[in-house]
Amino acid sequence: MSEPIRLLAGKRIVLGVTGSIAVYKAADLASKLTQTGARVDVVMTESAQRFVTPLTFQAVTGRPVYTDLWQGGSAGLPTHIAHVGLGEGADVLFIAPCSANTLAKLAQGLADDLLSVTALAARCPLILAPAMDGSMYEHPATQANVQTLLQRGAAVIEPVWGRFASGLEGRGRLPEVPALIGHLRHLLGMRWGALAGRRIVVTAGGTREAIDPVRYVGNHSSGKQGYAIAQAALDAGAQVTLISSAHLLAPVGVRFIQVESAADVLEAVLASIPQADALIMAAAVADFRPQQAADRKIKKSDDEGLTLTLGRTADVLLRVAEVRAASGWPRVVVGFAAESHDLLANAQAKLSTKRLDLLVANDVSAPDAGFAVDTNRVVLLRPAQAPEALPLLSKQAVAERIVDEVARLIRAADDA
Ligand code: PMT
Repeated sequence: MSEPIRLLAGKRIVLGVTGSIAVYKAADLASKLTQTGARVDVVMTESAQRFVTPLTFQAVTGRPVYTDLWQGGSAGLPTHIAHVGLGEGADVLFIAPCSANTLAKLAQGLADDLLSVTALAARCPLILAPAMDGSMYEHPATQANVQTLLQRGAAVIEPVWGRFASGLEGRGRLPEVPALIGHLRHLLGMRWGALAGRRIVVTAGGTREAIDPVRYVGNHSSGKQGYAIAQAALDAGAQVTLISSAHLLAPVGVRFIQVESAADVLEAVLASIPQADALIMAAAVADFRPQQAADRKIKKSDDEGLTLTLGRTADVLLRVAEVRAASGWPRVVVGFAAESHDLLANAQAKLSTKRLDLLVANDVSAPDAGFAVDTNRVVLLRPAQAPEALPLLSKQAVAERIVDEVARLIRAADDA
């Protein structure tokens, strides 16, 4: 079971399902959307029902499935207004998979089945995920319909390249469910989010400092906390730059900068902070690196060890403080502190030396917090205020708290 997603929890999603072999993915999509806490009402076209029965969707959403223009009463609505009620009460109408036929109907404004009638009656955001044979998607008629719908304000999730049931290959496959939900979050975040139009830079994961071409000095950071922050900022509508050495699935909508070493992080951060509303440094950046990285693999001998001399890396946050003092960017700076002892004293010192607006202190000695696990227990420190200890939370929930705090700090900077 996935964790509820704040952006979608309590929202009313009408999921339109049309005739395509990709209907099987729509069943999983309906299930995952329901697990986010959304109320999912499925409307199926007649062709969709030839691939999967309504019972499947009813089972995964726990709600009646709509198939017939003349059906009514099951949502407590009088028969003749059932379709209008579905569209009008929705927060979003998401059609996935959307066939060439339904795209054409929507572009023309036809209303001959429950889904097309619902789409005409709806005034909420319309999101379409076309899925069809590659040649059908590329056909000028389909492309013209897509353009018409885009100009009218619909959002279109581009199909991906792949192999079809026909055995042919092309661009027409429905993206996988996590990508579909990622697109939905990105599009809705931009419409509803408190950080819409803001620019946020997030760093995540550890760094690798080369010893030789095959070995490095690194740390245990997985990137989970930083990626969760990037996703929470996207949910809040921000334009997000994610700088990371981790290889997790990047949230849909981020501008991703792959890095390796502390020097790479410094370079990417300095290039990204002009005009940024906030920088959130969740990355575990190395403090030390081998003074000399060997060009060729160091050969071992049986009787001798290897002595490495480590030098200091640049402190990214200290450099950011200098840039900020001179330019005013970024407007808000958040740092982390990973501590194995004396958490509050060490964190308090970092808050002031690094001139931060907010410091998130982690006790990384606890088994359920810090590196690699899915939960975290943090203390929030702000200048001249008492520390605020949060309970054990998922990294997603910690990320949402940090993003709320960043939104508040940006508003305060606006008002200053
Ligand atoms: O990635 P996960 O597995 O999910 O784990 C999450 C986490 C434990 C890595 C994360 O929550 C965390 O605590 N990140 C900060 C780790 C860290 O480097 O802490 P620090 O106390 O060494 O550094 C203090 C601050 O200075 C950090 O914001 C760090 O990004 C920054 N820093 C550190 C070194 C350096 N050369 N330049 C910096 O700017």
